[in-house]
Amino acid sequence: MSLTRLAILVGAKGRGSNMENLWGACQNGRLPAVVSVVIAPSEDSPALERAKSLGIRTACASYGDDFGPDIIRAAKDCDILCLAGFMRLVPSSVLSAFKPGHVLNIHPSLLPKFGGKGMYGIKVHEAVLDARESETGCTVHTVTENYDEGQILSQKRLQIQPNETAETLSKRVLELEHEAYIEALQSVIGKVTSPS
Ligand code: GRF
Repeated sequence: MSLTRLAILVGAKGRGSNMENLWGACQNGRLPAVVSVVIAPSEDSPALERAKSLGIRTACASYGDDFGPDIIRAAKDCDILCLAGFMRLVPSSVLSAFKPGHVLNIHPSLLPKFGGKGMYGIKVHEAVLDARESETGCTVHTVTENYDEGQILSQKRLQIQPNETAETLSKRVLELEHEAYIEALQSVIGKVTSPS
């Protein structure tokens, strides 16, 4: 069976932990896939640097008129586009270049709660604590032309502890994210494998 080709779109300032986690899942066989390219809006992206050091092909799609076409060009041989830390809306031309449901994103809350424009990073976890939620988690969903909408593919949740801070939540949710993204991709790819 041929491997599914993934393109991963990371953020300009992204750490790249989800990118590296997906790459690792391809390496260890949990995903019948290969990371073909990692794309960032800036050459300075730490996630892009990390991808280079892992030996993954990289591309830069700087914000501007060529932004959509640059992504499409870099990912032209890919089956699925995975957003991992990418902060902007994805141009509709990019969404149309993939089969429906083949552009995915991960968000650090239980959508539809705590999503939308301006809801990213530590702000999400601060908002969760301010709202005195008893639980939070992460969501993998298909990407639309709006922020944090689309079909929910996978959610993982945790109970908020009495002394929780936004920082502790950020770390705990990130661990869930890594597993949720693999599981969502397994279902999209249509082949579920056991953890190694
Ligand atoms: C994650 O929290 C993800 O949910 C959000 O951006 C962050 C990216 O983290 N969309 P990393 O760069 O993958 O470590």
